[in-house]
Amino acid sequence: MEDQNLEKFFLNGILVDASVKESNIKENELDALIKTLKEKGITFLDLRTLHDILSEPETGSNGSVEIIKNYEGDTSASKPADWTVYFNDRFNRIKNILMTKDSGLMSLSNAKLLSMGSEVKVIAMISNVSISPIKKFMILDIEDNVTSYRALSSIINQDVLQDQIVIIKGKKSKDAIFITEITFPDIQMKDNNQPDIPDAYVLFLSDVHVGSKLFAREPLEKFLKWINGEVEEYSNIAKLVKFIVITGDLVDGIGVYPDQEKELAITDLKKQYEELCTMLARIPKHIKLIISQGNHDATHIAEPQPRVDAFFGDSLYKLENAIFLSNPYQINLIINNHKTNLIGYHGFSIPYYADTIAKYNKMDPDDIEAIMKLHLRSRHLAPTHGSTQVVPLARDYLVIDETPDIYATGHIHKTLVSKYKDTLLINASCWQYQTSYQKKYGQIPDVAKIPVVNLRTKEAQILDFLGEKVQISRKGIKT
Ligand SMILES: [Fe+2]
Ligand SMILES: [Fe+2]
Repeated sequence: MEDQNLEKFFLNGILVDASVKESNIKENELDALIKTLKEKGITFLDLRTLHDILSEPETGSNGSVEIIKNYEGDTSASKPADWTVYFNDRFNRIKNILMTKDSGLMSLSNAKLLSMGSEVKVIAMISNVSISPIKKFMILDIEDNVTSYRALSSIINQDVLQDQIVIIKGKKSKDAIFITEITFPDIQMKDNNQPDIPDAYVLFLSDVHVGSKLFAREPLEKFLKWINGEVEEYSNIAKLVKFIVITGDLVDGIGVYPDQEKELAITDLKKQYEELCTMLARIPKHIKLIISQGNHDATHIAEPQPRVDAFFGDSLYKLENAIFLSNPYQINLIINNHKTNLIGYHGFSIPYYADTIAKYNKMDPDDIEAIMKLHLRSRHLAPTHGSTQVVPLARDYLVIDETPDIYATGHIHKTLVSKYKDTLLINASCWQYQTSYQKKYGQIPDVAKIPVVNLRTKEAQILDFLGEKVQISRKGIKT
C-alpha cells in the first residue's frame, strides 16, 4: 500500500497493522473501506479484520439457488406395470430430444414394411448389443413403444450401449437395417458470452466419509480455516465463494462394505452426521451449501435417492445456509440474475461402465471423463439398466432433459476437471485415505482436492489441501 493511502487511514483515526501494508487495496476501494471501518467503529485494521470486511457479501451479489429437478420421495410398488411406465417415460423424453436433431424420421413399424434397399431413419431403444461370432458385425436388437427389430453395423463401437435411445439411419434389408449412422441425443452447445457479474466461486466437495478412521481430518480442518480467511494462500478465492456443492457420501455409514466396522471411528450413524454438522457449521453463513447423498448415506441406495433420513441426519437440517436435494438433481446457481445450470450426481453408475467397457477399465481421470461424456451423449446418468439401482417411478429422474453448464459427480475418490462441448465435467475428490476395500482392488484415492469454478468466467482449477500449504494442482485438469 502506498504511503499516501496509509496517511488517509491515519487522518481518519485508523491505525494500520504492518501485515496490511503488504496487501493490495485498490485506490477505488479505499474510500469505501474507510467509510465501512468508521461505521463499524474500527480504529485498528489488521489482516483478519480486512478479510472479514472484504468478504462480507455485497448487496445483490449473494448467491441464490433455483431448483429445476429434485426428487421429493414419492414411491413405487416396483410392479411390472411400473417398469413399463418408467421406461416409456425415459423413451418418450429422449425421443423428444432426438426429434429436434433430424427430420424424415419414421416409426419402426413403418420401417419394417419398406422394401429392401429403402432408406430408413428411426428412433429406437437398443435392447441388446452383441457381436457376431466371427466378429464382423455389431448386432443391435432395437425396439420402440410398439414393435422390435434388428440392426447391423460393420463398425463395432464400444460406446453403443444396451438401453441407449438413438436415431438409427441405414438401408433396409430382408429382416434387418444395415446401419450407416447412429446419432446420440447428446448435449447442446451453450452460450459462452461472459456474463456481467462479479467474480463468484463455487467449490465442489464430495465423499467426506466422516466417521471413518481414514477420514482426512487435518486437510478438512485446513479447508475450514481457509474458507474462514485464516489461510493466506488463495484467500482472494476464499472470500468470493458463494456456493459449496457436496455430492454425497457425507458420512462413512454403517455396514456399507465387508468389515467396515474395523475402520470406523464413529460407529453410531447419527453421531457421524453430528460430527459432519459440527464442521459444516464453521463455514461462513453467506455461503450456500448444496448437499446431496451417496451410497454411504442414511437413505435408500436405489436412485433417485431422497434426502438423508430425518432421524439420522437431524443435526444437518439445523444448518440454516444449507439446501438439501435428492441424488441426482438439477439446479441453477444464480448470481445477479445470471444462471449457471448444474447437475449434481453422486456417480454410482460410473464403475459399471469401467467394468463392462474394456477401454475404460483403469478408472483413471481419463476413463471417468469418458464415462461422464457417455452419460451426457446418452442424455442419461445410467443409460444401461442395471448400471445403478433405480426406483421405477412415473418419471425417470436420471434423464438429462436440459444441457447443464456443469456436470458434477463424486463416488470414485478421484479428481477430474474437464470439458465436453461447453459443459464442465467435475469429479470432486474425497476426504478419506485408502480403505482396506480399496487396497484389495488396487484403488488409490486422490484425497483433499477441491475443484473451484469461477461463475463469471467458467474457468476451473483445483485447490489441493493435502500438503503443508494450500496449492493449485494441475493433476486431474484436462481442460
Ligand atoms: Fe465415497
Ligand atoms: Fe460413493
